[in-house]
Amino acid sequence: MSKVLVITASPRGERSVSRTLTTNFAQAWAQNHQQDTVLLRDVGHHPVPHVTEPWVVGAFAPAEAQTPESKAAIAVSDQLVEEFLAAERYIFGIPMYNLNIPSTFKAYIDQIVRAGKTFAVGPNGYEGLVKGKKALFITSSGGAFPVGSPMAAYNFQEPYLRAIFGFIGVTDVQFVVADSMNQGEDAAKASRTKAENTLKELATTW
Ligand SMILES: Cc1cc2nc3c(=O)[nH]c(=O)nc-3n(C[C@H](O)[C@H](O)[C@H](O)COP(=O)(O)O)c2cc1C
Repeated sequence: MSKVLVITASPRGERSVSRTLTTNFAQAWAQNHQQDTVLLRDVGHHPVPHVTEPWVVGAFAPAEAQTPESKAAIAVSDQLVEEFLAAERYIFGIPMYNLNIPSTFKAYIDQIVRAGKTFAVGPNGYEGLVKGKKALFITSSGGAFPVGSPMAAYNFQEPYLRAIFGFIGVTDVQFVVADSMNQGEDAAKASRTKAENTLKELATTW
């Protein structure tokens, strides 16, 4: 029995490729793993707050420096961290925006990457504290960024996601990519079908 946290980051509804692939996969997963609990957090439609000055005080200043504003700001982060740590598996549905992730998902990452909670700083440097988890990233993009092609250098999304989640300890990660969405109907359809087929398989094997 696992807790599965599903996060969708597209501002689009049914037209969103990443959202549709992600929610369909989560449904198939739930069907095949009825003992699992699946929780959906939709940061595309319900963004979490950005980091503010009170947040920084809440995260780093001593108890005597705390204010009602800093306590409120960090309480939001504490709750998101708690929810994140309670899950064993993560399913992320993330569009590519300007070669990276949408700012709504970056705001979420800024809330959950927390010193002392999801990573530690010790004598040997940084250590990720989120151990033993699995993450599946389902991404969509208008172009394509094949490994080995000149376009690969423009893909800051996958390397960034691998780096930041690896930084907090989530290293068992897999990507399913629906790219070429703006490269003509045939290319878009072929890529989406390939992603759907991979996800169909992962609904039992992941
Ligand atoms: C603001 C914005 C920025 C985008 N930037 C890129 C980009 O840098 N590279 C790319 O290949 N596609 C880009 N796209 C296209 C989207 O990645 C593509 O439409 C994708 O399917 C969106 O995800 P969604 O269908 O889940 O909403 C961008 C789209 C928008 C709206």
